[in-house]
Formats: sequence, C-alpha cells, structure tokens
Amino acid sequence: YLYAGAAVLLSYLLGSLSFAVIVSRLLGLQDPRSYGSKNPGATNVLRSGSKVAAVATLLLDGLKGWLPVMLVKWFGKDYGLEDATIAAVAFAAFIGHLFPVFFKFRGGKGVATAAGALLGIDWLLGLATLATWLIVAFFTRYSSLASMASAAFAPLFYLMGDRGPWYVERSILLAIFMISVLLVVRHRDNIVKLMNGTESKLGAGKKELK
Ligand code: G3P
Repeated sequence: YLYAGAAVLLSYLLGSLSFAVIVSRLLGLQDPRSYGSKNPGATNVLRSGSKVAAVATLLLDGLKGWLPVMLVKWFGKDYGLEDATIAAVAFAAFIGHLFPVFFKFRGGKGVATAAGALLGIDWLLGLATLATWLIVAFFTRYSSLASMASAAFAPLFYLMGDRGPWYVERSILLAIFMISVLLVVRHRDNIVKLMNGTESKLGAGKKELK
C-alpha cells in the first residue's frame, strides 16, 4: 500500500502541472485563464493564435496522464502493484489536472489528460476514443462537444475490449467511468453555450478572444 500510495500521490502532483499555464508563460503568451473560455487547456490556448503552444499543451497534458499509467505497467510488478493502482494513478493524474495543488486548485477540464491515460491503459482504447473526438470535432467544429462525446464512449469502448484486446478490470472501468462523469460535469459552461448557440468553434481563432 505504501508504494501504491506514493504512486498515486506522485501522479496527482504530475497532473497538477497545468501545462496550458506553464507553456504559455514559457513562450511569453497571455495566461489562458484570462481569455476565451478562461480554461487552462489546449483548446483555449489555441484561441491565443499559437498552434505551437496549443500542441505543446495537448502533448504535455496528455503525457501526464499516459506516463503514470505506463510507469505502473512497466515497473509496478516489482513493487507488488496491480491493476487497481493503474486505475488509481490514472484517476489521480486527471484529478490533479482538474484541481491542481500548484494553481490554487483551479485547473482544466481534463480532456488531454484523460486521453493520455486511456492510451496508457490500452493504446487501442485510446485510439478509438481519439477517433471519436476527431470525428465529432470534424463534423461539428466544437471541441467541447467532441470531448463530451468521447467521454461518453470511452467506458463503452473499454467494455467492448473484454476478452478481446484486454480483460475488463473493474477498478479500471470505475476509474474511466468516474473520469468521464467528471469530465462532462467540468463542461457545464460549454453545455450552456452549446444550447444557446454561443459556444466558439475550432478554427474561429482570435476573433473569439475577449
Ligand atoms: O479541453 C476542453 C475542451 O473540451 C473545451 O475547452 O476552452 O472550449 O472550454 P474550452
């Protein structure tokens, strides 16, 4: 339990690195919490006009979900860690992103970090979920809608892999389900905007900046 606890704590701390804020600061850009949706995430960083910053944010926020899962997969056995620890570190990284200890507990919506964690749990599961995001984003141009649709499908995709590419682990299923629920809850402002038609579309660029 000691090693599992340490893994969860480290994962939470890693998740707490709000890369939208860090990358923007390093590149001398405006703080993403001050414009657009005010969300520290790749989508909102894109509204600054810097694709480089947005991609870096996406990759680094994704990496912090992927890496803890992979580290447990690679080295967990040596420390007696099991699948429940994979579930716990995935959830911890996600929670770190939503409630970062380094940023007054005001974080993002967890889309990139959840995607990274899913890719770590199983690359096929991650790819299926990313494909869902791309398809919805392509047809609607709404990042938020694509994210919520992907969240809705992720637990179903995981269940579909049972005895095929993977065995369904209850702890991992629970983690994915809780991540999905929290992800949608974090999009409540987006849901309101989607319903009243004021949600900004991908590619709208700087025009949307307030
Ligand atoms: O990454 C979060 C995305 O789904 C929505 O972001 O900035 O449009 O609220 P945003």
